Amino acid sequence: MNQIILPAIRLEGEIEVPGDKSITHRAFILGSVCKGEVEIKNFSPAKDCLSTLNCLRALGLKIETRNSEALIQGEGLFGLNRPNEVLEAGNSGTTARLLCGLLAGQNFDSTITGDDSLKKRPMDRILQPLSLMGAKIHGRSQNRLLPVVIKGSSLRGIEYELPVPSAQVKSALLLAGLLAEGTTRLRGALNSRDHTERMLQHLRAKFEAGPERLSLEGKREFAGSKILVPGDFSSALFFSVAALLTSSSNLTIRNVGLNPTRTGAIAVLKRMQGEIVCTEEQLLNNEPSGTVITENSPLKSTEILPEEIPGLIDEIPILAVAATQAEGVTLIRGAKELRVKESDRIRALAQELNKMGARVKELTDGLEISGPTKLKGAAINSGGDHRIAMALAVAGLVASGKTTIENSQWADISFPNFFSILEQVVIRG
Ligand code: S3P
Repeated sequence: MNQIILPAIRLEGEIEVPGDKSITHRAFILGSVCKGEVEIKNFSPAKDCLSTLNCLRALGLKIETRNSEALIQGEGLFGLNRPNEVLEAGNSGTTARLLCGLLAGQNFDSTITGDDSLKKRPMDRILQPLSLMGAKIHGRSQNRLLPVVIKGSSLRGIEYELPVPSAQVKSALLLAGLLAEGTTRLRGALNSRDHTERMLQHLRAKFEAGPERLSLEGKREFAGSKILVPGDFSSALFFSVAALLTSSSNLTIRNVGLNPTRTGAIAVLKRMQGEIVCTEEQLLNNEPSGTVITENSPLKSTEILPEEIPGLIDEIPILAVAATQAEGVTLIRGAKELRVKESDRIRALAQELNKMGARVKELTDGLEISGPTKLKGAAINSGGDHRIAMALAVAGLVASGKTTIENSQWADISFPNFFSILEQVVIRG
């Protein structure tokens, strides 16, 4: 599918974005091992989350959904059943990796696969530590890739130092730890998004989170609860950046998740002199949420440091678009993880934004972007990556002439209504 984007004069109004994708995955997955009823409100309609839902249904989970509400009848830690089919994670790394953790310690076998993009993404970062816990788990191509075959077996808690700040690795090990004998302790690179930790606490699992160490006692049942999913910060930021870049915009986004492990892009945009204000209003199931108000502002370049990357990893595509409009050279370093996302995002951003007249240089672990440049409408391609599709749409709003985004349907992976919500707030000449 092709989406045409025409230049915007400004963005104006008040919107909400759908529920957070990362929190929704965790609500479904942790909900599936609760004992009793779990009521989830405002879950994300993202295709990735539907992949998780379908896999859990194939594992025998009783889950009813109506609009954005779900009701799970959890049967406890060992209440899932052997699936009759290969579990299909689609494009979703979170589904595949978290399910590896959940399924390694079950008393049945299972197989997980994914689409062509997911089959190229590294799974060894999960399989290797799970094996240390006693998992019998094997992947294609020397245990590096999907499909992964899991022979359910009894696990033991381990002490493990995370080598990369990945929430998917951390979460997979905590999920495995729920079913393991003894205590699972994690140290090292813990500074990735902490939704799993917050939800374990909300559900009253035997779990402790300190700044240096996480500790979880296995084989302890916990009851269900209510989970209200806040709006997805990563989805909201596409609109905020569009408002920053278009003259006299003023945009309010309500009910946005403001978990500090997710909002690193705000500090960067403020450093770039963006007028963006986040007001925290409530704490729902341990997750802060509130309002984000953005006004058009002339931006200056900045340097995004390696230590900032975990807090803004998914926002780099839209920050790169912002940088094309900022005065000076913006440097993004220490982001080589971007090469193993849904696409090689470093390459995709340089290639597609340069087709629009941007000056983006590909670095091995990041990007160097010189601005401001007057973007010109062009035919550009999402490359099968949802965040590239949406970031390019925002570039199209500030470009002159017509931009055609080829393969725009990939936006549905995280945000099915992205283009229609965009049209609600865009004012054109
Ligand atoms: C996610 C973790 C991050 C992020 C991804 C969602 C999650 O990936 O990029 O979009 O929900 O746990 P990594 O764990 O690979 O850093």
